[in-house]
Amino acid sequence: MADEKREALAPVAEEASACQKCPLAETRTLVVFGEGNPDSPLLIVGEGPGEREDLTGRPFVGRAGALLDECLAENRITRKHVYITNIVKCRACSSENSRKRNRPPSTAETNACRPYLDRQLEIIRPRVVLCLGSPSANALIHTNFRIMQERGRFFEVPFADYAIAALHPAYILRQGGQAFRDVRATLVADIGAARLKVVEIRKAEAKTLF
Ligand code: URA
Repeated sequence: MADEKREALAPVAEEASACQKCPLAETRTLVVFGEGNPDSPLLIVGEGPGEREDLTGRPFVGRAGALLDECLAENRITRKHVYITNIVKCRACSSENSRKRNRPPSTAETNACRPYLDRQLEIIRPRVVLCLGSPSANALIHTNFRIMQERGRFFEVPFADYAIAALHPAYILRQGGQAFRDVRATLVADIGAARLKVVEIRKAEAKTLF
């Protein structure tokens, strides 16, 4: 099944690699399509590539990615267990004094990129989607998502059994001291809740078989 899904994703990734649907195509180095286990019941969706992701073509490989890996590991999850992608596949950045700074993707950029994410969702058919940060939760759960109030809750969605949102690791890295420890703990807990939900869904299905 994983091979079939990989085969189905390949032409979508190929098409995305040459995408010119929005102005991010002009400034990107590489398209970051997504990677991991396409057979995973858990799909993680971030905001968009940063500098390192843009240079390597891989999602979450910078500092935020290292924190994400740590929080996954605390739930005994590795990259091999999940598929990771973003709501936009190219780096959104602005130039300040000839330095590039990451910025959230605009609604137009998110909408232009959405068909790639929709095809990933159709092929992967995850049981649970974990949205990292409010742009992802806004795009996939509901508009005007209040990340501080609504993170950690399960929402019924058409493309999976449930979606849940967590604080973005880049936001967590901007906190210091006790605040850092507190918000980091929410990410560990929200990943744990997503994992547990997958276990519950599978248990309920196994029960209905006999
Ligand atoms: N932040 C994201 O939202 N996605 C990445 O791939 C990297 C950093």
